[in-house]
Amino acid sequence: MSALNEDTTHSSVSLITPEPLIKRFPFPFHEDSYRYSNNSRQLESGLCLEVTPEYEEEVEEKRALLKENHMKCYQSFSHTIEAQWEVLDMIIHELAEVYPDYFSIEKQGDQWTFSNHLLKEQYSFTFGAENTLPAEPLDFIGRHVQEDLVIVSQRDQDLYMDAGQVCFPANWSLVFDVGMTFTEWHSPVPVFSDKLAAKVRDFLMRMEAGKPWTRYNWTLTVEHVLPTFAEDFDLWAPKKDKVTKENIGELVHLRVEDQRLFRLPKSNSILFSIHSHLISLKELAENQVWLEHFRNIIDDLPEYIAEYKGFSEYKPLLSEWLTDTLQKQVEQGGNV
Ligand code: HEM
Repeated sequence: MSALNEDTTHSSVSLITPEPLIKRFPFPFHEDSYRYSNNSRQLESGLCLEVTPEYEEEVEEKRALLKENHMKCYQSFSHTIEAQWEVLDMIIHELAEVYPDYFSIEKQGDQWTFSNHLLKEQYSFTFGAENTLPAEPLDFIGRHVQEDLVIVSQRDQDLYMDAGQVCFPANWSLVFDVGMTFTEWHSPVPVFSDKLAAKVRDFLMRMEAGKPWTRYNWTLTVEHVLPTFAEDFDLWAPKKDKVTKENIGELVHLRVEDQRLFRLPKSNSILFSIHSHLISLKELAENQVWLEHFRNIIDDLPEYIAEYKGFSEYKPLLSEWLTDTLQKQVEQGGNV
């Protein structure tokens, strides 16, 4: 049986003093125009994960969501078990190598002991034996990282969403999408679904192990909320009605998803990880170069993209606020 022990080896580990969000936010734009495209690029670091100062609060939130409604956040087909073990193996080793103060792994053959020093937890299990873990491997390891994790299987010349632990979806539903093909689950995305999805799928099917890819996705969210499940649309979507010229800077947040794609060599599946970051417009405005890029992107954005991303109602207000804020900064001689 799995063992959860209190980790007593590192009694006072805590995350290093956080750099201000504006210094470490993954701002996704380098140009003044945004259209749907295959904006994937090679992932130079080769790493899947990032531990940020928000680690404890976000992992706690994920675990609470899984407890409250497990099925909404976790889905898997039984044939993904081999790929799930590969993901667990990859993640545990990356955590222990990149963050040795926060995580460690001890192995004696198949007997593994994984310690999460940040949360003061220790687990002993037999690698490959599902009944020795407290949950399926993907569900277990997902509870130790901030990323959402999706396993995509490749078979019959297609890609299938076959397992996922997704606690912070940007208005989509894992329950609805699980089992779908790449083009099926992207079908709500305008233009992308007709023109690009099949090409991107073919590109992904040629992905090789050891050559991961990455891309940023972005949207806007009202309030600092990561879990925006399609199932809970009625809870978070009406918040848009509260947006005014006075409160938009605090209320509206840019949401950037740092997405990474890895070929799993044994199962030939693909691991898709999503690390979601939020910053309020007011904080974003602290960087004038970013503010100007973002204003230009919004002013140039086609209506179908704003509509899909769910902010067409307050887009004119947003554009006005960005222009006014930028103007004020220019008059004051900039604030970068
Ligand atoms: C194989 C891993 C991938 C998974 C699991 C995935 C999953 C998803 C999901 C669930 C959505 C939301 C669709 C909805 O509205 O219900 C989405 C949106 C989208 N995906 Fe993917 N995706 C993957 C890879 C990619 C890649 C490689 C691209 C590259 C171009 C891409 C481009 C997009 C775009 C443009 C959107 C619309 C996002 C927005 O405007 O906010 N996806 N994806």
